[in-house]
Amino acid sequence: MTPQPLLTDKNAPIVIVGAGIFGLSSAIHLAQRGFENITVFDKQPYHETLYDFDRGCDAASADCNKIIRAAYGHETWYQNLTFEAIQNWTAWNDSLARGDDLPPGMTTKDRIYVNCGNYHIGDEKGMNGFEDLSVKNITAAGYGHTQYLLTDPRDVARARRDGLNAAIDPFNLLHKGQGRLSGHLDMVGGFVYADKACRFALHKAQSLGVKFILDPTAGQFSSFIEENGAVTGIKTSDGKTHRAAVVILACGGWTPTLLPELDGLCETTAGSVAMIQIPEGSPLRERFSPDRFPVWHYKMRGGANGSLYGFPIDERGVMKLGYRGTKYTNPTLATTSDKKTTIRSTPITAYTRPSIHTLPAKSIQVIRGFLDKYLPELGAANLKITTTRLCWYTDSFDNHFVIDSVPGKAGVIVATGGSGHAFKFLPIIGRFVADRVEGRESDMLERFFKWRSLNPGEKPHNFIMQGKDSPNSLLNVRMSDERDLDLGDEGYRAKL
Ligand SMILES: *[C@@H]1O[C@H](CO)[C@@H](O)[C@H](O)[C@H]1NC(C)=O
Ligand SMILES: *[C@@H]1O[C@H](CO)[C@@H](O)[C@H](O)[C@H]1NC(C)=O
Ligand SMILES: *[C@@H]1O[C@H](CO)[C@@H](O)[C@H](O)[C@H]1NC(C)=O
Ligand SMILES: *[C@@H]1O[C@H](CO)[C@@H](O)[C@H](O)[C@H]1NC(C)=O
Ligand SMILES: *[C@@H]1O[C@H](CO)[C@@H](O)[C@H](O)[C@H]1NC(C)=O
Repeated sequence: MTPQPLLTDKNAPIVIVGAGIFGLSSAIHLAQRGFENITVFDKQPYHETLYDFDRGCDAASADCNKIIRAAYGHETWYQNLTFEAIQNWTAWNDSLARGDDLPPGMTTKDRIYVNCGNYHIGDEKGMNGFEDLSVKNITAAGYGHTQYLLTDPRDVARARRDGLNAAIDPFNLLHKGQGRLSGHLDMVGGFVYADKACRFALHKAQSLGVKFILDPTAGQFSSFIEENGAVTGIKTSDGKTHRAAVVILACGGWTPTLLPELDGLCETTAGSVAMIQIPEGSPLRERFSPDRFPVWHYKMRGGANGSLYGFPIDERGVMKLGYRGTKYTNPTLATTSDKKTTIRSTPITAYTRPSIHTLPAKSIQVIRGFLDKYLPELGAANLKITTTRLCWYTDSFDNHFVIDSVPGKAGVIVATGGSGHAFKFLPIIGRFVADRVEGRESDMLERFFKWRSLNPGEKPHNFIMQGKDSPNSLLNVRMSDERDLDLGDEGYRAKL
C-alpha cells in the first residue's frame, strides 16, 4: 500500500512536542524539506539550562555523553544508519571547528563527537554471539581495519602500529591477574557530548526557521484539541491553544503517559547511571582522558549481571558509567484512552521526587563488582560515586523505534521507542518522521518503525507491562545507601 501524505501544504502549522533528539531531529528534517511553520514545545527551558542534567534537565537526551557504535549484531540496518550518522557527526564537529554559526555559549574549541572507539570485554572466553556477529558484519561492510581481536597477537601488533597502545588495554590487564589481553576493540565510533549535540541541533533548527517555546508552563503540553474525530492542535499549561495540521509527539520517557494508546507497544523504563568525579590534579585525569581511554562495554547483552558500559572522563573530569542489565519501572495507577484503569510506568527523577537520589542496590552491586575487578585504582584513590541518576527511556517490546501515525488519533504522529539506542541517530532520525509526514515510502518505516503489536507466541526483546509485581519495579527493589557508593569501602567489597 502506497503511504498517503499527511501534509502537502508547506505553510501548514506543525507542532512538535518534545525537544529531545526525536523532536529536534524531526524539526530539522521537516524544515530542510521546506516546511515553514514548525513550533517545538518543551517544558524544559533548554535555552537556559543547556540540556544539563545538573540544571534540572531530566530527559534521557539531556546527558553528558552517549555512545556511538555501529556494532549491532545481525541488525545491519542500524549498522548502516550509524555509519551514515557518523558522517553527520563528523560534519557537525568540523562546522564547530570552523566556527560557522556557533550555538550560543559554544566556541570553536568545543567538539561534539569523539572517535575514541569501543572496547568490549566479558568474563567468558572470547566474544559472545552478538559481538561476534557485529565484528563479522562491520568487516563485511568494508571496515575490517577498524576491528581488533585482542586475543590475536597479529591484531594486537596491528593495533600498536595504528597507535592504539592505550586503547587495547584500558583496564591494564597485561599487568595484573591473567597477564594477557582480552576482549576486542572496535574503532568505529566512540561517543558524543550529548548536551552539546542537542544545543547544536537546537541552534540548527532555529537557524532553519523553527520556533521554540521552551517553558515550564507555556511549553508544557496539557491536552490535544480534538474536533470531528481528528486532532487539530494542542493546549499548553498556560491555557493557550495551538492549531496544528500535524502534531508530532516526541516526549521520551513521558510519551506513554501522554499517549496511553502506546500501552503494550512501549513502556517507560529506567537505566542506571553513576558518575565519579575525578579530582583536579589526579593522575587519573590523564589516564581516563578521551585521547587514551575508549568507551567500554562489559558483557554487552549479557543479562542482569552485564550490560554495563562506561566513558572516558568529560571536560569536568567526570567519569560516567551506565547499567542496563535491569530495566526498572515505576508502575503508577493510570487510565487508558477508553477510560479504564491500568498500571503504567512513569518517570520519577531527582527533580520530580527528591527522595530518588540513589540507585537500586542491584545496579550498584554490578557497577562496583566491575570497578573493583577492572578499575581498582578508583577505590584505591578513595573515590566515591558522586552522582547517580535514573535515566528514563521508552522501550518498545521489540527494541525498535516507533515512528507512525497513531491509530484512532488522526493528525498525530508519534516518534518514540528509542529503547536506549536512539541518541546516536540524532542527525538522521528525523528523516523518517519527515517521510511519514510527506507519505514517502521507506523500508525502515515499513519493516521496523510502524505501529505494531506483539504477535501471539512472539517472544519480545523487552518484557514490558509487567505491572507492579514485577521484580524490576521500583516498588519491589531495594535502593542502595550512602556506604554502597564509597568505592574505597573495604567492608562493602567483602560483602560482594
Ligand atoms: C547496508 O549497506 C550496504 C552497503 O551500502 C548494503 O549493501 C546493504 O544492503 C545495507 N543493509 C541494509 C540491511 O540496509
Ligand atoms: C547529513 O549529511 C548529509 C550528507 O552530507 C547531508 O545531506 C545532510 O544535510 C546532513 N544532515 C544534517 C542534519 O546535518
Ligand atoms: C572533532 O573535532 C575536533 C576539533 O576540531 C577534532 O579534534 C576531532 O578530531 C574531531 N573528531 C572527529 C571524530 O571528527
Ligand atoms: C552478518 O554476519 C553473519 C556472519 O558472517 C552473516 O551470516 C550474515 O549474513 C551477516 N548479515 C548481514 C545482513 O549481512
Ligand atoms: C547475577 O549475580 C548474582 C550475584 O552474584 C547471582 O545470584 C545471579 O544468579 C546472577 N544472575 C544471572 C542472571 O547470572
